Amino acid sequence: MNQVPLDIVILAAGKGTRMRSDLPKVLHPLAGRPLVSHVISAARAVGGNRICVVYGFGGDAVPKTLNDESLTFVLQAEQLGTGHAVQQALPALDASGVTLVLYGDVPLTRPDTLKPLIAAAQSGNLGLLTVMLHDPAGYGRIVRENERVARIVEHKDATEIEREIREVNTGILAAPTAKLHAWLGNLKSNNAQGEYYLTDIIAMAVADGVDVLTSHPADEWEVLGVNSKSQLAELERIHQRNIVRALLDDGVTLIDPARIDVRGELHCGRDVSIDVGCVFEGRVEIGDGVMIGPYCVLKNVRIASGTKIDAFSHLADSEIGEDVRIGPFSRTRPGTKLMRDAHVGNFVEIKNSVVAEGAKVNHLSYVGDAEVGAKSNIGAGTITCNYDGANKHKTVIGENAFIGSNTALVAPVSIGDNATIGAGSVITRDAPAGELTLARGKQLTITGWKRPVKTKKEN
Ligand code: UD1
Ligand code: MG
Repeated sequence: MNQVPLDIVILAAGKGTRMRSDLPKVLHPLAGRPLVSHVISAARAVGGNRICVVYGFGGDAVPKTLNDESLTFVLQAEQLGTGHAVQQALPALDASGVTLVLYGDVPLTRPDTLKPLIAAAQSGNLGLLTVMLHDPAGYGRIVRENERVARIVEHKDATEIEREIREVNTGILAAPTAKLHAWLGNLKSNNAQGEYYLTDIIAMAVADGVDVLTSHPADEWEVLGVNSKSQLAELERIHQRNIVRALLDDGVTLIDPARIDVRGELHCGRDVSIDVGCVFEGRVEIGDGVMIGPYCVLKNVRIASGTKIDAFSHLADSEIGEDVRIGPFSRTRPGTKLMRDAHVGNFVEIKNSVVAEGAKVNHLSYVGDAEVGAKSNIGAGTITCNYDGANKHKTVIGENAFIGSNTALVAPVSIGDNATIGAGSVITRDAPAGELTLARGKQLTITGWKRPVKTKKEN
């Protein structure tokens, strides 16, 4: 069967006065991504041909932040109402198809909840998502006559009796685009807010003999919008609770499900345990049996099985092999690759470096733009001096090398296999394999030397 083409309009032009922020409301982050990006993901999941974002407040901030050529951006220079906003998008829509209208500040709608609306529109009707609310104040009310939807009345325009209605408009609807065209052209702004209400098309549809088919979300949070920081915080918790439930269902051990934040995708193998206070950003993949200690931040990392990450470690854009030990208090920065059995300990920073199998960097070191060979031991306080003030240079350390404590390796430099470097050395030239290299002042003892004594001040 040939499906009627689907376009999606996302309304994102509003300022969001109650956010008390210079950032347009739809750009405030939920789980680390702008609110409107969550809506775009839902739009993609239901397969819209064209996804049209109507922006306005904040100038170019919305298109610039989203920076996505697959989206169509439409400017609504003046925010004259939701109906006016959809009207701005009409020229970009396929007149032979159907249009689904979503709100940029309603981030958690499940794609499955949108499907019945689209189906209603594709069979020539108007699909409207409504919900029964305990406290409907502020929302548009669904006015039914003989059980059929007759119109929507906005809270501000409603009579006392209409305000008793608990079935409210979520704002999300779908309709045949050509009909939308005709209805929007007839909108008037003679209402309490002096706006062109999208909701007025419901009565027009009824007058045209178009059926208004309502459906409801499985959960109320799917249609909650963000108008204030406290609503944003509430939705963040709801979203995190949903993520956590899925992780627990997958068998992940969370020491306290209320104290974890996933701001991206977290994929876990079997028998993974995550202690309290951890934050996951971007795409994080964790292998079987991995343990993550408390208060770790992991961003775009892949961790193979059996690895243990101790408390307060910060890992970004890194690849961690099997049975590695990290932390407490370790930091790996972009381009870090730790291979099987490597150990990285407290107050160690690794950047753009490979630490090969079984190598150890256990205390107080900086390893940047380096290769550390298998089974080498990097002593406490070792620094790779990779930056000469203008350019970065590489340090190469062979296998089974031993770098004494407090060594400065001034790159570019290489240390041979099985080499030993004496503690406190400043190594500026290559050190040969298998030998002891020292580069430091010789120890002197001055016999008979006397400590200075305090001179008495004369008054
Ligand atoms: C709207 C509905 C109301 C519904 C409620 C659900 C109308 C007239 N009313 O009311 O029935 O119960 O949502 O939350 O539609 N926007 C623009 N341009 C504009 C005006 C708004 O892009 O000119 C965007 C906003 O950024 C927001 C969305 O449209 O994302 C909804 O606008 P808002 O002003 O919040 O409408 P409500 O008064 O909440
Ligand atoms: Mg609103």
